[in-house]
Amino acid sequence: MEPRIDTGKPHTARIYDYYLGGKDNFAADRRTAERAMQSWPAVRTAVRENRAFLGRAVRFLVAEAGIRQFLDVGTGLPSANNVHEVAQGLVPSCRVVYVDNDPIVLAHARALLTSSPEGRTAYIPADLREPEKILDDPVTRQTLDFTQPIALMLVAVLHFVPDEAQPRRIVDTLLGALPSGSYLTASHVTPEHDPEGVGGLERAYQASGLPAQARVADEFAELAFRGLDMVDPGLVLVSEWRPDAGGVRPQASEVNWYGAIARKP
Ligand SMILES: C[S@@+](CC[C@H](N)C(=O)[O-])C[C@H]1O[C@@H](n2cnc3c(N)ncnc32)[C@H](O)[C@@H]1O
Repeated sequence: MEPRIDTGKPHTARIYDYYLGGKDNFAADRRTAERAMQSWPAVRTAVRENRAFLGRAVRFLVAEAGIRQFLDVGTGLPSANNVHEVAQGLVPSCRVVYVDNDPIVLAHARALLTSSPEGRTAYIPADLREPEKILDDPVTRQTLDFTQPIALMLVAVLHFVPDEAQPRRIVDTLLGALPSGSYLTASHVTPEHDPEGVGGLERAYQASGLPAQARVADEFAELAFRGLDMVDPGLVLVSEWRPDAGGVRPQASEVNWYGAIARKP
């Protein structure tokens, strides 16, 4: 039986959907989102930049790093440019396992489970805080070949894992299962450029019962990327990670979000 979708309580996937202009959100989600936007008015710009970073990251991983397999934890609701669409648009044989702990994402997973005939996509409902379950799930094992490099995607999800949940152990466990030549892509909200605005968003989430912890660059680097080889340009604002030419880029105090890609030696 599928877990029940509770519309009375806000959920991070649905709040994010609201920021992105989606329709899969409810009054409780919108209330928390509006409260967050009172202190960080540009959060919609920030989530768009994060989503664009995700697309550029997948493009880099497939086209330049030769990656053909993805483990995407904290997938979110289907949106434009989902990982398998970008990856299989470049190389149709790419394989993707999506993971999320929100029942609403499960309910929409069918939209994520389209695949090019040559590739594969799969979805498992699981929690990042239980990395062993993700790794041991038969669907993960049937879809991904753990003798070949895999890109682990932790995009906009680690800030929902506060220190007391031991996020470093989680990252170590997931990366430990991947062979040399695998990659980690991660992005994370930071308080550095607008402490008051981001602090207000954190408090809005926490007041709604959602764990949220922004981290400064050094904390994020230590949590996610210790022992890995950073891909240029390193850990930067998501909007500054190999941006497409042309567009005007927002200010740091609007973006408040770091991203990076690194290779497991
Ligand atoms: C802000 S969205 C990010 C979506 C997508 N990765 C992106 O960057 O566009 C965060 C997602 O992580 C999921 N999430 C939060 N905590 C999680 C956990 N402990 N385990 C699995 N998924 C989690 C939420 O349900 C939500 O779908």
